[in-house]
Amino acid sequence: MIKKEMLEALNAQVNEELYSAYLYAAMRAYFEAQNLKGFSNWMRIQTEEELFHARKIVEFIFERGGHAAFKAIKGPDADWASPLDAFKASYKHECHISECINKLATLALKHDDHAARVFLEWFVTEQVEEESNADQMVQNLTRMQDAPGGLFLLDREAGARTLSPMVVASVSGAPAA
Ligand code: FEO
Repeated sequence: MIKKEMLEALNAQVNEELYSAYLYAAMRAYFEAQNLKGFSNWMRIQTEEELFHARKIVEFIFERGGHAAFKAIKGPDADWASPLDAFKASYKHECHISECINKLATLALKHDDHAARVFLEWFVTEQVEEESNADQMVQNLTRMQDAPGGLFLLDREAGARTLSPMVVASVSGAPAA
């Protein structure tokens, strides 16, 4: 049986992941309003990734005999000064999520909860990719912002992003990896 403090912390992380989905959905709406369909696609995929993260934690809570709790999700910003500004906000947010995951992993160790520790290793690795993906967009936009057609090219590239196989499997009802 999972300890109360660990359960509460996992439930708080579910809220963080759902807020992340909200944030990226809001960024998608911002890009749609700018008619930047590629960046909108990038954010649509990211929203699905976050919903997958939330589901993964909820399933773990169930497996451990815990009660998943769903608190109110705060509202994200609705507007950004530029595409670069939006991706900078995304990168900053992912750094925050990495800190949350690290604290969870430390808590698992404190409680000798090795099931949670092993489970959280997936998220520790995932956060390296999450930060890197957002940072890559920031770097590309910074480099190309003054180049003629730069935004158009990056938007087209972002339009090629697809769902990861793990998320596809999760949405289709197959067991999460
Ligand atoms: Fe669920 Fe983007 O971290």
